[in-house]
Amino acid sequence: MDSRITAAMAVRGFIFDLDGVITDTAEFHYRGWKRLADEMGFPFDRAANEQLRGVSRRESLLRLLGERASQFTEDKLQDMMTRKNAYYLQSIQEISPRDMLPGARELLQELRAAHFKIALGSASKNARHVLRSLEIEKLFDAVADGYSVERHKPAPDLFLFAAKALQLAPGECVVVEDAAAGIEAAKAGGFYAVGLGPPERVGGADAVFPNLENVHVANVLNALKQ
Ligand code: BG6
Ligand code: MG
Repeated sequence: MDSRITAAMAVRGFIFDLDGVITDTAEFHYRGWKRLADEMGFPFDRAANEQLRGVSRRESLLRLLGERASQFTEDKLQDMMTRKNAYYLQSIQEISPRDMLPGARELLQELRAAHFKIALGSASKNARHVLRSLEIEKLFDAVADGYSVERHKPAPDLFLFAAKALQLAPGECVVVEDAAAGIEAAKAGGFYAVGLGPPERVGGADAVFPNLENVHVANVLNALKQ
C-alpha cells in the first residue's frame, strides 16, 4: 500500500491552533497592535500584520518594531506588551460561543464522536481564557499554550508538547493551522499539516482548505492521501 495512505490511516489525533482557526481573534490581535503602533507613532498595517500571524507576543512586538527594537529597554518592551495585551483583552471581553468560526465546532464534535484525541496548540497566553469564553474547554483532551514551551512557532516545540500530552507520536497527529509559522512548525515536528487560508500563506501544508466550513474528518483524511 502507498505509504501516504497507510500514514493517513494512522491518524489518531488532531492539534488545533486557536486564533484564526477556531475563532477570529486574529483580527483583535491586529487591532491591539495597531492601537499600540498608532499611539507610539510607528507605521503598521494589515500587510505588516501578516508577519505576526501565529508568532508569540514578544516576537510580534520585535517584528513590529523592526530596527527600532534596539532603542528600547527591556522594561519598555514589557510595558508595550502589557499595553497591547490590555487592548486585546478589552476587545475579547464580549467573546461568546457565537464567535466560533464556521465549521469549527462541527469538526471538533465530529472528531470527538469518532474518538480522535484533540489538543489545542496555540502560542497565546490567553488561550485558556478564550476557550472558556467559547465554552469549548471540554472538547479538548490537552491544551498547549503560550505558557507551555520556551521556543515558539516556527519551532515545533508547542506541537510536540501537545502530542506528548495526548500520548501520540507526531506522525499520528494532524495539525490545523492558519499561519505560515504554524505550518513550518508542524512540518518541522513531523506532523501532518492542514493549512487554512490562501495557498500563498499556507501552501506548505499537506492539505489546504479556505476555512473549516463544511470540512469533515473524511475530507481531511482523504486530502492527506492525495
Ligand atoms: C497566536 C496569534 O495565536 O498567539 C498571535 O496568532 C499572537 O497573533 C500569539 O501574537 C500570542 O498571543 P498572546 O495572547 O499571548 O498575546
Ligand atoms: Mg492562528
